[in-house]
Amino acid sequence: MSQKFPPISKKLPVFMHGADYNPDQWLHDPKVLEEDIRLMKLANCNVMSVGIFSWVSLEPSEGEYTFEWLDEVLDRFAENGIYAWLATPSGARPAWMSQHYPEVLRVGANRVRNLQGGRHNHCYTSPVYRKKTAEMNRRLAERYAQHPAVVGWHISNELGGDCNCELCQEAFRGWLKAKYGTLDALNRAWWTAFWSHTYTDWSQIESPAPHGEMMVHAHNLDWRRFVTDQTIDFYRVEIAPLKNANPELPCTTNMMDLFEGLDYRKLAEEVDVVSWDAYPKWHNETSDGREAVWFSFNHDLFRSLKKKPFMLMESTPSLTNWQPVSKLKRPGMHRLSSLHAVAHGSDTVQYFQWRKSRGSSEKFHGAVVDHVGHEHTRVFQDVATLGETLGKLDDVLGTTVPAETAILFDWDNRWAVRDAQGPRNMGIGYENTVMQHYRAFWEMGVPVDVIGAEDAFDGYKLIVAPMVYLLRQETGEKLHAFVERGGTLVVTYWSGIVDENDLCHLGGFPGPLRKTVGIWAEEIEGLPDHDCNSLVMAEGNGLGIAGEFEIRELCERIHLEGAQALGVYGSDFYAGEPVLTVNAVGKGKAYYLAARVSEDAFYDAFYGKVVEEAGIRRVLDADLPAGVTAQLRTDGDREYVFLLNFSGTACEVELDREYADAETGEQLSGSLVLPVNGSRVLRS
Ligand code: GLA
Ligand code: ZN
Repeated sequence: MSQKFPPISKKLPVFMHGADYNPDQWLHDPKVLEEDIRLMKLANCNVMSVGIFSWVSLEPSEGEYTFEWLDEVLDRFAENGIYAWLATPSGARPAWMSQHYPEVLRVGANRVRNLQGGRHNHCYTSPVYRKKTAEMNRRLAERYAQHPAVVGWHISNELGGDCNCELCQEAFRGWLKAKYGTLDALNRAWWTAFWSHTYTDWSQIESPAPHGEMMVHAHNLDWRRFVTDQTIDFYRVEIAPLKNANPELPCTTNMMDLFEGLDYRKLAEEVDVVSWDAYPKWHNETSDGREAVWFSFNHDLFRSLKKKPFMLMESTPSLTNWQPVSKLKRPGMHRLSSLHAVAHGSDTVQYFQWRKSRGSSEKFHGAVVDHVGHEHTRVFQDVATLGETLGKLDDVLGTTVPAETAILFDWDNRWAVRDAQGPRNMGIGYENTVMQHYRAFWEMGVPVDVIGAEDAFDGYKLIVAPMVYLLRQETGEKLHAFVERGGTLVVTYWSGIVDENDLCHLGGFPGPLRKTVGIWAEEIEGLPDHDCNSLVMAEGNGLGIAGEFEIRELCERIHLEGAQALGVYGSDFYAGEPVLTVNAVGKGKAYYLAARVSEDAFYDAFYGKVVEEAGIRRVLDADLPAGVTAQLRTDGDREYVFLLNFSGTACEVELDREYADAETGEQLSGSLVLPVNGSRVLRS
């Protein structure tokens, strides 16, 4: 059965390839803008994100609108077959606005109001900022919503941060009233009898502050949830006039890798297509494997948010100007890094930025067009060549990644686990733990979805839930039902500790999962960095894994309550007690890992076996060299296998059947050599 998602825009049903474009910085030099068109065609670029921070060029003084330059840019695009993601300019604002209406300026947690400057620093509650934004967007929509060059709206830019002004405080109190109804209910949920922090009037409640309240965990959690909701509310104000003018045009806002400040799962519900900005630090280590794993995970996350193709809205054509050290992309890396996104489900490859600005803070950030101003640069050629490549892969557009494995990853849990003040405050390492588990699938070439508690669990054969510290009762029940129906579940230490209010589950950890995993976690300790223990695999364990693996950082003492021990602690006063267990539930099974095993070899062996047992497909039915992954996109009929070499050396990959090179049609079988930074797309 063939299944394809429709293209992001019917106007441009091919891979979108382009960049953030800032013509407003060059209005004094019209020749540059003409030259840009010539260069865009040469670079095989077909789409630009325009107007992202253009407010002052569109409204130089209050109520005076100057859209003529944008008319010209878009008309010229239309004449030349170039398309635009038209941005709303709310990511930055003109000085006149801050001067006339100080309430639009953001207030920090320290209660100090920012001065005008920078960007991404508005109050998203301010009625004035909302009104100004809606008015600007209404005018943009009126003028451009039917423009032939416009394929969609790029809303603001990298939404994030919080504002602590009085308007936001009032909105927070309103949000809390709606959630809890009574102060009594709030006090109970927040456990405020602790340190006499009970509130007796709503007006006493404020956002968390370093010089005020930071110790009530549920308060911190609710503030973060409120910030997400309020940001979404602002986003809705932005898109209302756009949708009104043309409901067909998709809206998106660019997200950031594992950004903690907003619950992206909620924000994703609001956008028509997910887009994000990926800036890996390539070539900083001998192998790019770890960096690739992190970015693969992010690509998988952003695809999973809507379970459909996403957009790589920004990436750098060469280097950034904000990383601690900025290395140039080595030959092959531009293609590899771009196809990396496509392999995981991106239907676009876009850059920051088209042309380097002449002044200000991003003048040295990589761009398609450098200060030299012509096309005869290595970076320009890399970009042009990639454009050609994408042109040969248009069949891939709209295909999906058929994952049978899912990793549970929720913002609520991230926030709570970091805030916890528990066994290892020097670094609880939640995200790294998630990567430690994910890496094993990446190395095996097993597609993974990154899902949240609210997502459907059926359809997966395996769910991995590392450190699900915050676990709702109903999520526990859902996971239990998943296992009963025949699923495999892997849960680790420090799971099922608190509920949605950050209140500890009473009656034994891992709370709602206790009977699923068949163990009781009695106590947990953090180890200092120099300390370690080990996991000793039990003789004749059902996994067929032998030997001993190092444990670091976190150790739980657990008791078997129906589960079977597969491995035990090697030392300390709890030597011989279980570390790795398995419990049979209904038609499925649940594994529990009670300590942070630090060796990758363990995860390779363990998940190798689990994947095999659960009957999960590897993209290539062969072992892959370390640092090489295989990813899969399919329409249910045709399959596209992406072979990506991040190992830093040339590698040989065994092909499990006959393939054709998706770009050249060349027939391939046997083994294939991937050069350093090599990438191939195979069709079968
Ligand atoms: C972010 C922003 C861009 C630009 C790039 C630089 O992703 O959205 O405007 O500043 O970073 O890497
Ligand atoms: Zn505010």
